[in-house]
Amino acid sequence: MKNQRRRRQVLLFPFPFQGHINPMLALASMLHSRGSPITIFHTHYNSGAIDRSSKHPSYRFIEIPDQVSNLRSSSQDHVLSLIRLLNDNCTVPFHRHLAQVLSDTDDDTVTDCRPCLVLDMHWYKMNPVAKFLGVPTLVLRTGSAASLNGFIALPALYRKGILPSRAQVAEWEMEAAVEELPPLKVKDMIAVGNDREQLLCFVALDAENVRTSAGIIINTSDTLESAELEKLRSDLSLPVFAVGPLHKFATPPEATNSSSLWPVQVRQDEDRMCMEWLDCQDPRSVLYVSFGSLASMGRSDFTEMACGLANSGRPFLWVIRQGSVKGQHLDSALPDGLFGNGTMRSGIGKIVEWAPQRDVLAHRAVGGFWTHCGWNSTLEALTEGVPMICTPFFSDQMGNTRYMADVWKVGVELRVPLERGRVEGAIRRMLTTGDGESMRARAEELQRLLANANEEGGSSCQAADDLLSFLSSI
Ligand code: UDX
Repeated sequence: MKNQRRRRQVLLFPFPFQGHINPMLALASMLHSRGSPITIFHTHYNSGAIDRSSKHPSYRFIEIPDQVSNLRSSSQDHVLSLIRLLNDNCTVPFHRHLAQVLSDTDDDTVTDCRPCLVLDMHWYKMNPVAKFLGVPTLVLRTGSAASLNGFIALPALYRKGILPSRAQVAEWEMEAAVEELPPLKVKDMIAVGNDREQLLCFVALDAENVRTSAGIIINTSDTLESAELEKLRSDLSLPVFAVGPLHKFATPPEATNSSSLWPVQVRQDEDRMCMEWLDCQDPRSVLYVSFGSLASMGRSDFTEMACGLANSGRPFLWVIRQGSVKGQHLDSALPDGLFGNGTMRSGIGKIVEWAPQRDVLAHRAVGGFWTHCGWNSTLEALTEGVPMICTPFFSDQMGNTRYMADVWKVGVELRVPLERGRVEGAIRRMLTTGDGESMRARAEELQRLLANANEEGGSSCQAADDLLSFLSSI
């Protein structure tokens, strides 16, 4: 057995946010289907969410205590503090567990080399631990190549006085082009919260994590971002593997909507309700509305959104989760008299706390997606050929919006503050006009190109093969 050539064991450590767990588990699935033994480190909170051994009998799972409770209700306002806290709390236990894995592997007569590690970019404190223990580490960037370029460029742009914070910049300055990051405008740059020093510190730590790794894995495709990937390759002088969209490489159960931070019972009930409701709708008639797992909006935006949806007269499936509206409990968030029992009074809308998003986007009844432009949502819509209404809130979402509206031309930009007339207009444009049809045609063309990239001989498939060879060689 010892002489038999085996794939190197890959250890993966997803960051415990929904939009980070999904692509890491899809990557694990892709590597496993190509012969790599898989070990997943996961923070304590994920233990229920990752649906461990029952769904992945051949993976090994190692729980890292995080001393942070209730990550599911975390919101955009606390993201940076939470990332720092998780890094601080997990470093020591991660060191202990990684050392244990190495000692197990050294005793193992079957494997012929030590494992390597894939870390989420936000686990910046784990990379030095792995280095100390002699474990080669790659970083997974779960966002786009353009957003990684943005992370790397941000400190220098700040020094030049380019500041995306709304409080500090006049309206006309926000519309100015950022020469270093075309096609972005100042208002599209990465922004999280209002504490500029905290953001700069976070961005520097993430960029250092990338620079000190053995290579970068990105959930994107040359089909979408060839110039942005080229820039990364020349700026970083590191191997860059563009292996996306990862969810389309995944095999069951990761090929379905299996990993979630939501309680299983809520998910199963909501899944069934969504799909049954969609089955009763006309082809391409429904607007699917979901703002991911962290974005939260003000009360006024939420009211305008609800009224615009109702006034549009178009059927919609709307995900409203706890935390969707700042400081407001779900039950009191909806405008009086408009809704009841999770269904709009007029019967045209369905409201749920959770939707099986990939299945929803693939359903024949869905004609458009009103999204916050998280990168996973963006890729999931493009791989199903669904055009989008783009309402970004924070982080990379503004940049993703620019690409959808101006580069790929598959989206309508609709920024906050929302106003019911503009909401109604955007929905009608998307679902009832020739303009909407053109956006759908371009989304369907990208769907074809992305599918080709993941096929044998396509760029993402080749990148996945290159990644496997690289993992065996380091
Ligand atoms: C976060 C940031 O917001 C985003 O900007 C960054 O690109 C990734 O990290 P999130 O807000 O969760 O992500 O959005 P997104 O990246 O779109 O990921 C959400 C995931 O949850 C998607 O895979 C989506 O399919 C899934 N989801 C969300 C569901 O399956 N059902 C839901 O009801 C909501």
